Amino acid sequence: MSQETLSNLLHENRRFEPPADLAANANVKADAYDEAERDYVAFWEKAAERLTWETKWDRALDWDDPPFAKWYVGGTLNAAYNCVDRHVENGNGDRVAYHWIGEPEGDSRDITYAELKDIVCQAANALTDLGVKKGDRVAIYMPMIPETVVAMLACARLGAPHTVVFGGFSSTALRDRVQDCDARIVITADGGYRRGAPAALKPAVDEALESCPDVRNVLVVRRTGQDLGEGGWTDVRDVWWHDAVDGASKDHTPEAFDSEHPLYVMYTSGTTGKPKGILHTTAGYLVGCAWTHWAVFDLKDDDVFWTAADIGWVTGHSYIVYGPLANGTTSVMYEGTPDTPHKGRWWEIIQDYKITLLYCAPTVIRTFMKWGADIPQKFDLSTLRIIGSVGEPINPEAYIWYRETIGGGRTPVVDTWWQTETGMHMISPLPGVTAGKPGSAMKALPGVSAVVVDDEGNAVKPGSGGYLVITEPWPAMLRTIWGDDERYRETYWSRFEGMYFAGDGAKLDEDGDIWLLGRVDDVMNVSGHRLSTTEIESALVSHPSVAEAAVVGANDADTGQAVNAFVILRESALTDGEPEEGIVDELRNHVSKEIGPIAKPKAILVVAELPKTRSGKIMRRLLRDIAEKREVGDVTTLADSTVMDKIKEGIAAGSDED
Ligand code: PRX
Repeated sequence: MSQETLSNLLHENRRFEPPADLAANANVKADAYDEAERDYVAFWEKAAERLTWETKWDRALDWDDPPFAKWYVGGTLNAAYNCVDRHVENGNGDRVAYHWIGEPEGDSRDITYAELKDIVCQAANALTDLGVKKGDRVAIYMPMIPETVVAMLACARLGAPHTVVFGGFSSTALRDRVQDCDARIVITADGGYRRGAPAALKPAVDEALESCPDVRNVLVVRRTGQDLGEGGWTDVRDVWWHDAVDGASKDHTPEAFDSEHPLYVMYTSGTTGKPKGILHTTAGYLVGCAWTHWAVFDLKDDDVFWTAADIGWVTGHSYIVYGPLANGTTSVMYEGTPDTPHKGRWWEIIQDYKITLLYCAPTVIRTFMKWGADIPQKFDLSTLRIIGSVGEPINPEAYIWYRETIGGGRTPVVDTWWQTETGMHMISPLPGVTAGKPGSAMKALPGVSAVVVDDEGNAVKPGSGGYLVITEPWPAMLRTIWGDDERYRETYWSRFEGMYFAGDGAKLDEDGDIWLLGRVDDVMNVSGHRLSTTEIESALVSHPSVAEAAVVGANDADTGQAVNAFVILRESALTDGEPEEGIVDELRNHVSKEIGPIAKPKAILVVAELPKTRSGKIMRRLLRDIAEKREVGDVTTLADSTVMDKIKEGIAAGSDED
C-alpha cells in the first residue's frame, strides 16, 4: 500500500463494518448483547454448556461475600478431561491439536488429540510417582515446546495448580515465584532455541533452587541436548522427562474437582516490588476462555488458530492452551523468534499451515512494519479470516497496516482488551457483529460490564475519559492473590466502591465505544509485557553502587513504552564526582539478571538528585517529560524547584546518557 493510501485511511477516521459473509454465519449474533444484559448470570450458565461436567452446578454465581466470587457452585469437572479426553471420546482423536514448529527449520511435530491424551496421561502418572497430589503446586519453567502444554494439563488433571514462569525470566524471578507459592516440583528443559541458538534454562533452575530447599524434584525435558556441565545434574533431585514419562502407563482416570478448585497461579507485576500471584480456578476460567475464544475468533471446525505469544504469559494460558483445547481446535505453536532464520518466518508458517486466525501483539506488528511490507507480500496469506491484537493499545497506523498488509483488507481486526487478572477477553469487537475502529477495543463482550468512570466512580458520558472498571463479576475473574486476600481486596476493589479497578485509563468516544489509554498506575507496558516500575527500582537499588533509583515508562515507537531509569550513585561509585566507567552497562545487566532481559532499561541516566515533593514522593511525571524529551511540566510542588534544571544541565553536559 502506498504511503498516500495509508494516510488517507488514517485520516478518514475509519470504521470497518463486519464483512457480510462473516456476519451471516457468525457464531454469536447481535442479540447476545441484549440477552446478556437482561441476565448476565443466565448468559454465563448457557456458556457453561460448552464444557462437560461430572456434576452440574446448583448455583451459577455466589456473590454473597464480594469481592470473593464463586462460579458454578457445586459443580465438578476435570479441566484436562475437557481439553483432551472428551474430544477423543467424541471421535475427534485424529484431529491435530498442535502443529508444533521448532525454531530450527524442519524441526516440527504434529500432535493429535489422541496422542495428546496419551502423553498427558503418562505425564500425570509420572507426576503421581513423584508424589504430586491434589493441591500441590508445580512450577513450570519451559521453552515453547509441546511438553509445556503437556505439563500444564498433567497438573490440571491431578488438581495440582501449576505456576508457569516465563522462560525469559531470571533465576531470581523463578526463585521468588517458587517460594511464594511453595512449589515442591519444578518442570523444566535443558534449554530451548532462540534466535538461532540453544538457550539454556536448567542452570537458572539450579541457581534458583539453591534457596528453595523444599523442592523435591526437577523434571527435565531434553530439548537441545546441551551439555549440562559440571554440577549441572543433581542425582537425587533431577529426573529426565524421557525416563519418567515415556515409559509410564497411558491409562489415567481423571478425577472431577470442584468448580472452584485452583487451576493455576500466574505471577504478574503490580505497583509494588513484589509480583502478585493471580489465582484462577477451574470451571469459571475454563468457561470464560472457551466461550471468548469461540466468540471473538468466530471459531469454526476447520479453523487453524495461531496465538503467537509465549505460554509463560496469560495470553498463552488462555489462548494457546485452555481456550483452544477446550474447543477442540487445531492450533499452531511456534518456539522461536519472528526473524529466525529469516524475517518472513511467520508468514511462511501461515502459508505452510494455512492458518485462518492469527493473534499477536502490536509491538511485533510495528516491528514487521519497520521490516517492510515486501516481506509478507512474498507469501500467501489468503487463508487468514480474522486477526487479533492483544497486550497494549494498538496505534491506528499499526492497526491499518495489519488489516491491509497481513489481512489483505478483508479480515476484521479484533483488538482484545483483557488482563492476567481477567483471565479472558473482556472488551473486543465480535467480528461478525461489531464494527472495528483502528485504535479502539470497541465494546465489552456480552456478559461483561465494563464502564468508564470519573474520579468519584460515576460513569462518564460519551466523549469523556476516566478509569476503566468492571461492575459485575465474570466467570474467569481472578479469585484472589495467592495467600493474600487483603492485597486482592486492596489492589482491585478499594479504589471504587464495589467495582473492579483494572488500572487502565480509558475514554468513550461519541458513539460510546471504548478506547484504552494505558495504565494509570506505576505499571509499564513494554512490548506488551507488564513491568512494575517499583520492581525495577528495587533491582537497581540492590546493586551496591546505587543509592536511589526512579524508573518511568516513556513512550517508544517500537515497544509502546520503554524502561527509562534515573539513578543516584553512591560515593563509592564516583571518581572525582564522575560515574565509574561502564557503570551504566553494568546496571542494565544487573536488572536483566535480577528480573529478566525484558526489564533491562533502555536508558539509564545518572543524576545527582531526583525530583521529589515535600513529602518525599518522587515526581515521575517530570522524569517522564525528560525521558520523552518534552518541555518539563509544572514544578511548583517540588521540594526544590531547581532540581529539574540540574538534571537538564546534567543531560546537556552529555556524558551520562547510555
Ligand atoms: O494496560 C492493559 C494492557 O495490558 C494490561 C494487562 O497486562 P497483562 O496482565 O500482562 O495481560 C496482557 C495480555 C492480556 C492491561 O491492564 N492491555 C492488554 N490488552 C490491551 C491493553 N491495552 C490496550 N488495548 C488492549 N487490547
